[in-house]
Amino acid sequence: MIDSARFREVLGQYPTGVVIVTAMAEDGPVGMTVGSFTSVSLDPPMVAFLPAKSSSSWAALRDAGDHFTVNILASDQEDVCRLIAMRKTDKFKDVEWHESGLGNPIIQGAVAIIDCTRVAVHDAGDHEIVVGEVKALEVRSAEYPLLFFRGGYGSFKPASLAAAESDLMQHLGLVNLVRPSMERLAERFETEVTTNALVGRELALTASAGRSDARPVPTRVGMRLPFAPPAAAVFAAWGTQELRDLWISSVNRKVPRELLEEFKQVPDRVQKRGYAVTFGQHFLEVESLAAKTGQGALHAPSAELHAEMLRYASAYNPASVEFDGLRHVQFVSVPIFDGDKVAFQLTLWGPRKKVSQAELLNYVDALQEEAALASAAIQRVGERAQG
Ligand SMILES: Cc1cc2nc3c(=O)[nH]c(=O)nc-3n(C[C@H](O)[C@H](O)[C@H](O)COP(=O)(O)O)c2cc1C
Repeated sequence: MIDSARFREVLGQYPTGVVIVTAMAEDGPVGMTVGSFTSVSLDPPMVAFLPAKSSSSWAALRDAGDHFTVNILASDQEDVCRLIAMRKTDKFKDVEWHESGLGNPIIQGAVAIIDCTRVAVHDAGDHEIVVGEVKALEVRSAEYPLLFFRGGYGSFKPASLAAAESDLMQHLGLVNLVRPSMERLAERFETEVTTNALVGRELALTASAGRSDARPVPTRVGMRLPFAPPAAAVFAAWGTQELRDLWISSVNRKVPRELLEEFKQVPDRVQKRGYAVTFGQHFLEVESLAAKTGQGALHAPSAELHAEMLRYASAYNPASVEFDGLRHVQFVSVPIFDGDKVAFQLTLWGPRKKVSQAELLNYVDALQEEAALASAAIQRVGERAQG
């Protein structure tokens, strides 16, 4: 016989997120705090949650109609979690919300929302399994999610995340050797540090550590960008002539001739300088387009995306990087080597505020130092593998 205290204690070792499932009843919004939310099926897209049969909130959700909205709570929304979990009727009185596409409450500050139509309710002991087909979904904030673990609330702060796609597998073995460097840099400069690998003709974001205050969305690990000017200059700079040619030939033919001539200078310029740098703050626009057109990971980068990057070409690796006063630095990148090949482009993302030339050079020094350590670690593993 398994008593309920033991059941809770043991199952409490498994952390869950916290969502508020909402719907719109005739007399106003209804909602339920739920830890038992899970994704179910990709095709068709389905999710599920498990309400207690005895729950009056579940009865209200069910009676409100055949659709519901899942609000994934952020780590600073413990108060909303508690308000909605209370046994009372006017739960939404102190909660800020607006209507979703299906007319259900979207809670202000939720990390993501998922609009669903209820397609099945399965019996499961004293609970039910409610399955919803996803009609619309959206990430709304870069906050970390609220977690529930061992009976308490918490938040999750990854030291670094690594992409999990199959064609990145060979790179991921190596990226673990780079992660300590990324984490040190992210901590020291309180910003985001990422690594990109060249996968076929695309630049794939293999890992990320930390967060930059200049970015409302966290970097999407797995995101792909075209291996083409003005991006990814590090791979061209330290690459073979063949790779440089591939890089240049990836430019859309319609670019003005002067720009093409300018791009041809970039690999030598970057190699001599020892780092790639991009000024300004345009990249968020490129990224939000990448997210829109490709959902980051799964689709090839679009021509539209490349066109957007070309609009900002002058911000990338200009002939002179000397400046007085302060400037926005978008990112600074250096190579990490696997033998004589660039294994990764190690990138530090600049802060929201402008920085001085000395600060930029400080980033460069730190990046180069860590890149040397990471390259050495990769070399040691390579030597060991060869016996
Ligand atoms: C973090 C958290 C997770 C919860 N997860 C579930 C759940 O998965 N299923 C469920 O039936 N109740 C869950 N509850 C309880 C309900 O939110 C709610 O407190 C309970 O249903 C109150 O009873 P009522 O619905 O009759 O008002 C959870 C509560 C909290 C605080």
